[in-house]
Parts: sequence; C-alpha cells; structure tokens
Amino acid sequence: MNIVLGITGGIAAYKTPDLIRRLRERGADVQIVMTASAGEFVTETALQAVSGRPIRSNLWDREAEASMSHIELARWADVVLIAPATAEIMARLASGAAADLLTTLVLATEAPVAIAPAMNRVMWSNPAVQANRALLEERGVAILGPGRGSQACGETGAGRMLEPDELADIVTGPGFAPGETGGALSGKTVVITAGPTREPIDPVRYLTNRSSGKMGYALATAAARAGARVVLISGPVDLAPPRGVETRSVLSAADMHRATHDVISDADVFIASAAVADYRPVTAADKKIKKTGETMTLEMVRTPDILASVAALPDAPFTVGFAAETDNLLGYARGKLENKSLDMIVANCVRDGKAFDVDDNAVEVLWADGQQSFPTTGKSALAGELVDLIASRYEATRGTGTEPRLSIIRLNDQT
Ligand code: CTP
Repeated sequence: MNIVLGITGGIAAYKTPDLIRRLRERGADVQIVMTASAGEFVTETALQAVSGRPIRSNLWDREAEASMSHIELARWADVVLIAPATAEIMARLASGAAADLLTTLVLATEAPVAIAPAMNRVMWSNPAVQANRALLEERGVAILGPGRGSQACGETGAGRMLEPDELADIVTGPGFAPGETGGALSGKTVVITAGPTREPIDPVRYLTNRSSGKMGYALATAAARAGARVVLISGPVDLAPPRGVETRSVLSAADMHRATHDVISDADVFIASAAVADYRPVTAADKKIKKTGETMTLEMVRTPDILASVAALPDAPFTVGFAAETDNLLGYARGKLENKSLDMIVANCVRDGKAFDVDDNAVEVLWADGQQSFPTTGKSALAGELVDLIASRYEATRGTGTEPRLSIIRLNDQT
C-alpha cells in the first residue's frame, strides 16, 4: 500500500517518525509531505531517515516535481493520511484551497483521505472547527479520532492525536481503501437508499420528509471502505456524492422504487435508510393550484413500500430497514422487523428533533434473536460500526453460518 503521509504543524508531529515506522512495519510505502509549519515540530532529517524517501514540502520544488509531479504523487497514493491534522489544515481542506503541496495533492487524488485531528480541547470543540469536521466528513474524508486524555498544553479532554499504532492499524487495515480486497464486504454489492423523497402536488409544491441523507451517505462511504461495490439511490439532499460510490439521484418514492428494483438483482445487501413519503397526492396538478376557500383537501394514496418489496423478493438480499420513532422505539421497530420480514432494523429515536440534520446519532439495532445498542457518536463512526455488524450478521445468516432468516413473510399489497 502506498501512503502519502501529510504532516502539519501541531505538537503531535513529534510522534510521526514512530507513525512512519508503524506503517512501514505493516508493509506500507510512505511518502512524507510536510507543510511549512510542520518543520517547527519535527525535522526533515528524522523523517527522511525513517521513511527512506526524500521529503516533499514545496509545490515549487522543480527538481522534486521533475522526478514525481504532485499529480503523479496524487495518483501514486492508495491512501492520503494527514496526521496530525491541525485546525488550520481542516479549514483549508474544507474550503478547497490549493495554495501548497499538501492541499493541492488532496484535491488531485482519487484515493481515500483520512485525517487525524490533534489540537487543544477547546479548539476542537470550537463551532468553526466542528463545522469543518462535519463538511469534510460529508465529503467522505475519514476523521480518525481525536482521542481523549492529557494534552501537551496541560489540559485534559478530546483533542489528542490517536496513537501511531492505532492509526497504522486503521489505514492499513482490510477494506480501508475502496474496492480493496480483504474488507468485511469485499466482493459484495450493497444497495442503499438515502434522503427524503418529494411527492409533487403541482409544479411548485411538493410533500416531503425531514431527512438530510447524512446517515445513508455515511453508510455508503463505510460500505465502500469495507470493500463493497455500493449503489446509492438518493433523494434530493445537499451532500456531495461519496467517493467510490455509484450514486443515482431520484425524486419521488415511485422513482426510488424503480431505481432500486433496477439494480436489486445484483445486491447482496440492501439498506433502506431513506425517509420515503408513505403517501403521495393522488394526482399532481399540471398547473399551479390557486387558493380558493379557507381549507383545502388533498387526496392521498400510499406509495410503494420499497423496503417491504425488496424483502419479499424470492431471492431477497440481506435486508436492513430503519425505524425513526418518537415513542415506543423498540416495540415499533421489532414490529417492522417482523411485518416487513427484514434481517435487521436500525431503530432511531427522533423525539425532540434528535437525529435530524445533526452529525451525531445513537441507535438500537434489532434482529430476529438479538439486539445491540450504539451510544451517541458521529454518523461516520456509527456507519462504520453498523457496516461491521451488517457484515457479520450477513456472514452468520447468508455466508457459512446456518441461522435461518425470519420466516414471517408479509406480501405487500402496495407494490
Ligand atoms: N420505507 C420504504 N418505502 C416506503 C416507506 C418506508 O422503503 N414507502 C422504508 C424506510 O426507508 C425505512 C423503513 O421503511 O427503512 C421505515 O418503515 P415504515 O414502517 O414505513 O416507517 P414509517 O415510514 O415511519 O411509517 P409508520 O411508522 O407510520 O409505519
């Protein structure tokens, strides 16, 4: 594995010679790219000695560019890891800046990008830093850490760079680079629905659901990292298509149903995270409806239940549903698991606006004879844990394992 290790100017940079050794012990070739301020914390001499390669730090270094240009370096990388990542580099990456070698390289690479933030705990919790973290995460950058503990500034809290061993394990671990063999879902096709649907009333109005699509997009990124081919069928959201994922955009529940069934015969796993409208207006007016009386009535009809229709297929993939509930979370979720004949359901409490348009989420996952709680965590980390659980349940029920699927099949009359 070829790793470009970007080092930025934080005190944790003193740990990078050790990080390079840990990466090389795991068989990686490591090319260092330093920012100007990284040299305040660690010397080029030390880094060159442990990496065995000349250090790159200057976009305008003609000699280095002649032997491997920054574009070639961007192509060479299987993974770009930035450790430590300061608040400054996060801001520059979030803004798409390209004023130096490291930021230019990140824009020019198709490899997965991971950052290991390291900064004072108050800086880390600053809303500007958190907004940049969320934006980077949405765009598919893996945020590794930070860890909690005592900090170089004498304070204690969240902001420590993860330890070199931990970072090396993650980035060289199976499935970190999309499509890499050896991931938990390597060789599998995963189809995911995400975001809301829009059900037209007339040319200027529609009915929709509250959903940012963040959870589905994070699951798509995590499944791609686990080695799967991922098809993401997305309702209208304000998110960039995840790297390494085939994203298809749809509007209505009927479009999403069609797009899902177009690809479902290839799927080993289906994850329905979309907030699909359950009803649509019977007809969409072709001209703008003018206001008349004090009240108006819309006649609605059920939309096809995409999840139930997939679970009812004779050769159904491993099917995972979501249940967003304001009350009786586990009762309703287990009811949906059984009624829709699912392999697994992810239950999400949405009382008081929880889970909507936020970056953190806590869920309960249920299957026929089991249950697991996932406490509040970032959607990207949660997605990684859910994908691991899905892969292990898939293996238990469809792989070499022998557990039967739920036997209750409800034929859905809407489909
Ligand atoms: N779903 C779907 N197609 C629909 C409606 C829902 O695929 N037309 C999926 C969602 O993506 C989610 C799960 O079904 O995975 C939600 O189950 P559902 O019973 O429809 O929940 P609600 O829409 O919240 O409806 P209710 O609680 O009223 O039963």
